[in-house]
Amino acid sequence: MNLIKANGYKDLSRKAANVVSAQVILKPSSVLGLATGSTPVGTYEQLIEWYKKGDIDFSRVVSLNLDEYCGLPPEDTQSYRYFMNDHFFSHINIKPENTHVPNGLAQDLEAECIRYENLIADLGGIDLQVLGIGHNGHIGFNEPGNSFEKATHIVELNETTLQANARFFKNIDEVPKKAITMGIKSIMQSRKILLIANGPDKEEIIHKAIFGPVTPDVPASILQFHPDLTVVCSFE
Ligand code: GLP
Repeated sequence: MNLIKANGYKDLSRKAANVVSAQVILKPSSVLGLATGSTPVGTYEQLIEWYKKGDIDFSRVVSLNLDEYCGLPPEDTQSYRYFMNDHFFSHINIKPENTHVPNGLAQDLEAECIRYENLIADLGGIDLQVLGIGHNGHIGFNEPGNSFEKATHIVELNETTLQANARFFKNIDEVPKKAITMGIKSIMQSRKILLIANGPDKEEIIHKAIFGPVTPDVPASILQFHPDLTVVCSFE
């Protein structure tokens, strides 16, 4: 594991963007696994800036997002598809057809999970997966207690996550209760993983995830077993 302590959010974002940009420069057709949440926003902003300067080319990059709420259409400002278009894709030269987010509106959600998992395999697997972390240790939407064995699946979001994500909605009742997420199994199959965490409120969970026992009660703890994990964190 490569543990990098950053000095504040700006520094964290630049360091994380450097890891992503190195990946894309070394392999222009990289398959990037991407995450939402507030943490990666600065990383995306930095990548956009470097793209505009001509330093990175996303024209051959393919992206696969970790998760999506069930029931929100892509034009809903709270959907993860909207978030990705808004914060990243619409500012760079990635081809829209090369950007993939699970379809939370699929009639048959189980079939959508299988389609998404097959898509990851058909694209040759994920070269670099970017991850944030929830206060309860969730990665993607893999909540504590879930098995480590799952591929893409449907989850019922637990109370901690609903409360944490309510800040983006008018009130907690508007937060969708279900989501579709890559599973721990899908995430662990990525060739490289970049975990980012920012703020004093993430210090305890990062410590547990990286140095504590590996247990489904702390989903991110499984990352200790990944052969190519980079953690960039700032607790300022
Ligand atoms: C959501 C996302 C996760 C993300 C987490 C942390 O629940 N599904 O992928 O890591 O929030 O978000 P933040 O970065 O805003 O703390």
